[in-house]
Amino acid sequence: MKKYAITDIRAIEIIDNRGMPTVRVNVCVDHEFWGKADVPCGSSTGSHEAREIRDEDARYRGKGVRKAIQNIHDILQPKLRGLDATRQREIDYLMLELDGTENKSKLGANAILGVSLAVAVAAAAAGRLTLYEYLNADARVLPVPQACLINGGLHAGNDLDIQEFCVMPIGAETFGESVRMICEIFYHLKDVLLEKLGKNATNSSEDGGFAPPIASTRRAMDLLLEAVHRSAYTDKIVYGLDFAATGFYNPEKDHYHFEGSQKTRDELVEFIKQLLNDYPSIVSIEDPLHENDLEGMKILTEEFSDHLIIGDDMFATNIKRIQKGLKLGAANATLCKVNQIGTLTEALETVDFARKNNFAVVMSERSGETEDSILSDISVAVNAALFKTGGIRGSDRGTNYNRLIEIEMELGSSAVYAGKNYKQ
Ligand code: PGA
Ligand code: ZN
Repeated sequence: MKKYAITDIRAIEIIDNRGMPTVRVNVCVDHEFWGKADVPCGSSTGSHEAREIRDEDARYRGKGVRKAIQNIHDILQPKLRGLDATRQREIDYLMLELDGTENKSKLGANAILGVSLAVAVAAAAAGRLTLYEYLNADARVLPVPQACLINGGLHAGNDLDIQEFCVMPIGAETFGESVRMICEIFYHLKDVLLEKLGKNATNSSEDGGFAPPIASTRRAMDLLLEAVHRSAYTDKIVYGLDFAATGFYNPEKDHYHFEGSQKTRDELVEFIKQLLNDYPSIVSIEDPLHENDLEGMKILTEEFSDHLIIGDDMFATNIKRIQKGLKLGAANATLCKVNQIGTLTEALETVDFARKNNFAVVMSERSGETEDSILSDISVAVNAALFKTGGIRGSDRGTNYNRLIEIEMELGSSAVYAGKNYKQ
């Protein structure tokens, strides 16, 4: 038998942090080394994402993933068994060929991604390496976390339209210190919310942040700024907002339902301009307009060239979509979510492509996650300077913070915290 041969693939249906079924894959190499990966899932998913498949039957209100699991066992496993697990690219491209669709809807992006990731983890284990070391011998950068402490949009049961209000501790010296800052701000934010809005304001969002009963963007920013002020980290923190604007855009009427009124694109752009002028510590905005409004994105990118103007749903971690942005000058950064594109190889190719074209890359988890921390290893493997890690409440969020703390220790003196170089 060849060394590093895939000898077994086993998939099971587990549940994520929202009680939704998802796919867990275990891949075995050389009858000995197992690699495990869980598949994340978004709630504000863009239309350009690779398609996961769900059973659409009576179980779990249609959300079961038994079909995806069957595809892994019946279609992918027989073709992959015996292949060299270190040939990640060949394996991923073989799965793409077996699927044959543009968006992985035949076998399911959840089936393909689970196998793709678990193959990498198993190959790393067989080489007696951690995943980040296996993927890149020169991995050394610990990302600035974009930690979401207040949520609205589809991630919260409140009337706030913007989905995520994130702190970015660029003034920390290490990743470990950045985590301490985020946690201390989180405690202060809880006090601020309790004092100003009462205990209902301290309820949790889907993303590990708070979901206060407010409807105003500026109010959310002011509450967050107050918490940061109390923590005494004001000069060490900047802010990132994910508008996830597709969530409040009405395509039939071509307007945004924002802060209680209908807004045209130009009105929303004007709102954003004023917001960024009034809050100069907001340095990053994601999906400020709906996923197909590249023209509008171009206007904001020109006006705010010093800011990170990030495409998430707009690009869907897809090179073809990013090419469109580049052609027009729309956005200067892309999110990288492995499950948006559906294989590890393609996600890594997207990162390379973005960087070669001077786009910043922000690694990102999804709102639906498990205790798996594989994204932390991938973030360090690509030396990402930013990682959108959600809030800090819940072990589905804590798992990435904790894994990155661990990696920083493992790397020792070669670890570099991105800090003020977060745009690279
Ligand atoms: P999602 O949201 O994981 O629910 O899609 C995250 C984001 O929009 O960045
Ligand atoms: Zn987003």
